[in-house]
Amino acid sequence: EVWNPNGKYRVVSTKPMPGTRWINLLIEQDCRVEICTQKKTILSVEDIIALIGDKCDGVIGQLTEDWGETLFAALSRAGGKAFSNMAVGYNNVDVNAANKYGIAVGNTPGVLTETTAELAASLSLAAARRIVEADEFMRAGLYDGWLPNLFKSPILLFFPDRFVGNLLKGQTVGVIGAGRIGSAYARMMFLKANGEQPVTWKRASSMDEVLREADVISLHPVLDKTTYHLINKERLATMKKEAILVNCSRGPVIDEVALVEHLKQNPMFRVGLDVFEDEPYMKPGLSEMKNAIVVPHIASASKWTREGMATLAALNVLGKIKGYPIWGNPNQ
Ligand code: DGY
Repeated sequence: EVWNPNGKYRVVSTKPMPGTRWINLLIEQDCRVEICTQKKTILSVEDIIALIGDKCDGVIGQLTEDWGETLFAALSRAGGKAFSNMAVGYNNVDVNAANKYGIAVGNTPGVLTETTAELAASLSLAAARRIVEADEFMRAGLYDGWLPNLFKSPILLFFPDRFVGNLLKGQTVGVIGAGRIGSAYARMMFLKANGEQPVTWKRASSMDEVLREADVISLHPVLDKTTYHLINKERLATMKKEAILVNCSRGPVIDEVALVEHLKQNPMFRVGLDVFEDEPYMKPGLSEMKNAIVVPHIASASKWTREGMATLAALNVLGKIKGYPIWGNPNQ
């Protein structure tokens, strides 16, 4: 799909993005905008090289793409100056390779802070109150009337505790990675406790202390070499048996094979996961675990946020082409 075919600067978006504001911004500044409409969800390096072609001033890309040496070399050969991920995370981007080819890199911080924190809070509450299991129970037609007493109905053979979960009020909330999103999550969870003390943000504590003491732990670190498999078999073993673990950061922060084993051994331990180690796949066994809630990387999925991300990504690329400051710049 091509907009403003006679524009001076050629900007490519590897995916259609929401809204039209980002397209208008580029067109107003004399850009020809090309949007890849290939049906394939994840584009290969070869697909993207073909999109870049012989002349390309800037590219807006997605977190599913591998922006390494090969792509930055191709973009540089095409005269490109800028690349922006339409995401705040940029673990798919080799910033050093971009620097080597003189290509500025942008990301989209800010507009997804509250949206992502809201999903982490939703997963925390949904896991605590076992909402997904209870929903499945209703839809399966198994609800045979309210019971104050557990272990009575024959149906309860399969649902022996009838979705008794955790009351979060009074519990300790831990945040690993208290940046923009982690801090917003902490504020939301603190509000949940009506400002009463016990939901505690463990910013000052060491990570292992947080893992040992918290009842609910939400992960918000950047994924890099130091945070790969941060939550492994050994660390899982130090957590409370009834703890809730939420991950809206990046999948490889958790050793997912170890997590599946831990969920099997500890039925009262619950997780809410938005991201997975080998997205779009889940490690074997995870989808069968009743104590896991899994959703498909939707933390930034609100209309306002996604349009904001697209606009920021366009501004980043435009900024470099036109010599304005870049909004989101991981190098800063
Ligand atoms: C990001 O922006 O990094 C999220 O994972 C997707 O919105």
